[in-house]
Amino acid sequence: MISLQNISKSYTSRGETVTLFTDLDWRVETGSFVALMGASGAGKSTLLSLIAGILTPDSGSISLGETDITTLSTDAMIAYRGGHIAFIFQAFELIPNLTVTENIDLVLDISHAPRRYTTDEILERVWLTGKWRRYPNELSGGEQQRVAIARAFVADVPYLLADEPTGNLDEGNASRIMDLIDILHQETGNTIVMITHDVDIASRADTVWRLHNGQLQQK
Ligand SMILES: Nc1ncnc2c1ncn2[C@@H]1O[C@H](COP(=O)(O)OP(=O)(O)OP(=O)(O)O)[C@@H](O)[C@H]1O
Ligand SMILES: [Mg+2]
Repeated sequence: MISLQNISKSYTSRGETVTLFTDLDWRVETGSFVALMGASGAGKSTLLSLIAGILTPDSGSISLGETDITTLSTDAMIAYRGGHIAFIFQAFELIPNLTVTENIDLVLDISHAPRRYTTDEILERVWLTGKWRRYPNELSGGEQQRVAIARAFVADVPYLLADEPTGNLDEGNASRIMDLIDILHQETGNTIVMITHDVDIASRADTVWRLHNGQLQQK
């Protein structure tokens, strides 16, 4: 279970404060797959970063299972994240001077999480078998996105947070990627929170939530 209680979060930049959330509550059941929708700027990526402990709320608490991550020190949060959370970033965040294989294996080196698939196996699953020695700049946007997805599934961790994982793919490839995420979700039983702007993609999830004016509503 992912549980957010009384979360408040504001950003202040150039003397201007923007409040995204005030006393927000949210629960995501263990093993479920939820889609998070909402207009650009609504705060979806911010919400995902809060759940990942990349950002901290101004007040309130966030628990993943039994762990209240808002009480963890920075070091403890880094260690916790490595063992529990995979993240697919809106902009992939592949390491440019590492090959496809190295990008995937790096996650396991850093996180010390057990391996769920061999690198060959996961590359086959994202149909990138022939491209394991390439560098990110030698791949198309869609191929980079698939590396990011492979990297997110290779470690055996219970939570997957995905920020528009099909945002750079055409309809056909997006649909294939969603088929893959569906299968991997069934195999792993992980809990997935996925941001998407696409209603068809969102419909793949068990439940769809919309973030609007700092409030979450189930669709
Ligand atoms: N570091 C920051 N400092 C100040 N404001 C920020 C910061 N990060 C985000 N914001 C603001 O917070 C709001 C929410 O940003 P966020 O990235 O969470 O939106 P989003 O729902 O993911 O949008 P998109 O669909 O475009 O990715 C935006 O208005 C943004 O300008
Ligand atoms: Mg975003």
